[in-house]
Amino acid sequence: MIVKIDNLSHDLKGISRVNGKVTFIDNALPGEVVDIKLLEEKKCFNKGKVISYIEKSKDRIENICPYFGGCGGCSFSGIIEYKKNIFRDIFKRYANMDITPDVIYSDNIYGYRNKISMKINNGKLSLVEENSTELVDIDKCLLCNDKINMVIEKLTSVNLNGLKEVIIRGADSIMVILKGEYDYDIIIKLLEGYVDSIIYNGNCIYGDEYIICNIDKYRYAIYPESFFQVNTLMISKLYDKVKEYAGKGDKLLDLYCGAGTIGIYLADNFNKIRGIEINKDAIKGANLNKKINGIKNISFELGNANNIKIEEDTVVVDPPRSGLDDKTRNIIINSNVKKLVYVSCNPITFARDINIFKDKYDIKSVTLFDNFPNTIHMESVCLLERR
Ligand SMILES: C[S@@+](CC[C@H](N)C(=O)[O-])C[C@H]1O[C@@H](n2cnc3c(N)ncnc32)[C@H](O)[C@@H]1O
Repeated sequence: MIVKIDNLSHDLKGISRVNGKVTFIDNALPGEVVDIKLLEEKKCFNKGKVISYIEKSKDRIENICPYFGGCGGCSFSGIIEYKKNIFRDIFKRYANMDITPDVIYSDNIYGYRNKISMKINNGKLSLVEENSTELVDIDKCLLCNDKINMVIEKLTSVNLNGLKEVIIRGADSIMVILKGEYDYDIIIKLLEGYVDSIIYNGNCIYGDEYIICNIDKYRYAIYPESFFQVNTLMISKLYDKVKEYAGKGDKLLDLYCGAGTIGIYLADNFNKIRGIEINKDAIKGANLNKKINGIKNISFELGNANNIKIEEDTVVVDPPRSGLDDKTRNIIINSNVKKLVYVSCNPITFARDINIFKDKYDIKSVTLFDNFPNTIHMESVCLLERR
């Protein structure tokens, strides 16, 4: 059926009405006329998929990937201004605040990802299809950097049956993580000299146990299960903003510190820094990163953010998509934290948390980063100061 898109939802899906019922359509922009197929009809809403574009928006960024429309990796094709407007709407709705973020643009809309997780489908590498659990075989991903695509190309020459998942992490060095059952000597022979590390079901079977990513003057080691910002090209822009917002001071707490990357990046500006993180691999990386970068004024603790005592004046929080839990928010609110820098990858939980902090804190500045071009995702940073 042919519909016109009226608006965008908070998760950047096109909204139209089919027989009076709201219908959410992936990869459709306001003003566009599209031929759609209904995928799901629920009591209160439908979900649809674009079959063809009849009238395209001038704000559409044409996607050049051969798998576009099949693979779910590229989920949004509009200009960043749409994300800025949605961000504003979300803050209005969840925090009752008028916030217009500054935007830091990305120079590249392809080739920015340093990590890809692929399933194995009939022995081939595949990604999950848009709006479904079906798999689409791929032999490249344009969102990923060249190093990752070189490894994908190599791996497509063998039958990967037996493996369940293959993850490739590619920065200054490159790691392949294999999960499932496989005669891994075949992969070692295939990738020898091309990659720096191969991990098979949690064990390092070739090369190093971690990869390296150089950001600004810092050298970061990343272990297989540790979080690392996925857009390598935007990391220094993001961390520079965190550094600017945090300013200079005596003690800094880097909560949800991952491999210690933010604390280390800010180490010149504080006398003492403490990082807290729940993932063991990440803490191992954080301690190695402290050593590699010769940072003396930082320490890392393995622990849960919701079970700490805060003695620092300045805190950076960078939680997962679920945002802060009640206990962690209360610990911050009942502490003497004067400056809070909140890094978020989910504007809805971000706005929900800011709505609670706003009784005690003033929102000084908010910046949105175009860290995930061609997708619905966004990254943002906010500076809050205690009133
Ligand atoms: C978005 S990442 C941020 C990592 C780091 N700041 C960076 O820029 O690379 C969130 C991190 O929080 C950690 N995490 C999740 N829940 C946690 C909790 N309850 N307490 C402490 N750390 C947690 C995850 O393991 C992950 O490393």
